[in-house]
Amino acid sequence: MANKNLSNAKNSKNDEFYTQYHYIEKEVNAYIEYNPDVFRGKTILLPCDDPEWSNFTKYFAQNFDRFGLKRLISTSYAPESKMYKGGYQPTLFETLDPQYDKKKTNIKGKIFTLDHDITGDGRVNFNDLEWNYLKGDGDFRSEEVVKLRNEADIIITNPPFSLFREFFMWIVEADNDFLVIGHMNAIKYRNVFPLIKENKVWVGATNFNTGMYFRVPDDFIYTESYKFKREQNGVKVNRVPGVCWFSSIDHGRRHQPIPLMTFDDNIKYSKHKEIKKYNYLKYDNYDAIEVPFTDAIPSDYTGVMGVPISFLNKYSPEQFEILGVSTGDFAKSLGITTNYRGRTDVQFTKDGVPKCPYERIFIKAK
Ligand SMILES: C[S@@+](CC[C@H](N)C(=O)[O-])C[C@H]1O[C@@H](n2cnc3c(N)ncnc32)[C@H](O)[C@@H]1O
Repeated sequence: MANKNLSNAKNSKNDEFYTQYHYIEKEVNAYIEYNPDVFRGKTILLPCDDPEWSNFTKYFAQNFDRFGLKRLISTSYAPESKMYKGGYQPTLFETLDPQYDKKKTNIKGKIFTLDHDITGDGRVNFNDLEWNYLKGDGDFRSEEVVKLRNEADIIITNPPFSLFREFFMWIVEADNDFLVIGHMNAIKYRNVFPLIKENKVWVGATNFNTGMYFRVPDDFIYTESYKFKREQNGVKVNRVPGVCWFSSIDHGRRHQPIPLMTFDDNIKYSKHKEIKKYNYLKYDNYDAIEVPFTDAIPSDYTGVMGVPISFLNKYSPEQFEILGVSTGDFAKSLGITTNYRGRTDVQFTKDGVPKCPYERIFIKAK
């Protein structure tokens, strides 16, 4: 049994990582601040969200009236279909319900809907959620969930990380607005980057440099190298670095220009010793300058600049245009051919010596 739990926890990878309430609150606030009516009259679908665990369902149900939602739909994945099988126990909420079906409960997904006051307290909130079994296991790719997707206005969730690429295409296919959590590596995916470049998708308002702590099941096993907090807000957590929000909903941070110094002032006053020492190096095989830090972008440079991926945390489409990324097809389309992986730029060791480079996004001032 102990062994089984161990392999379950390992196999689950990070699919059973649950988003903490305060992350959702902070990110969604940014959209509400920018446009208080952003969710008014809208149907939101949360397609990987069992209210038992999901703070997305809790958050949007609790804010149903304030946001003026038309309908909230949350669907969950059947326990039997999950990679991680441990610990599923139907709650009293479920077993005491007349529709509870012992045979169905492990193999069927569920649908939870909220659109009117049931309890009679004059408010629409979590207590008014109604549920039913789905026909299938609640896979977001199933016909019935696809139908819900097509009928919704906005898709919001933290999807299974192992299926992120597929999930992302699933949203984009439907042309709905969305707000989802994913790994920042996805920025470079062939299907994602063009949308970022064309300002159809952007990263969320919360800075993604710090990593996020997700709630994990009680039998989750940490890797030996894990050095971060194991508990937060009374729950067991695991830190995932490089995670960010992807969105097609507008927020204010995108429209604030990055405060920058001129080229000459950077060379004189930059806090980065690399800039002072090397100024701005040019790439060997691409006509652009290397800018190893977002805050060192020279405000008056009119040519192409290679900046770190984390630039997207501060990117404003009114200030800069994105031309490409130093990897894959985009590198090729920019004429960067000498190195397919696009390792064209220069990075520095702690002593300031140029070393093996990271990936870059190529930008130009507007
Ligand atoms: C990263 S967790 C996040 C859960 C929740 N959205 C949250 O943020 O707390 C992803 C969830 O999707 C479920 N899942 C895995 N494969 C799925 C699929 N094909 N369709 C729907 N849900 C799936 C997992 O079991 C897991 O509960």
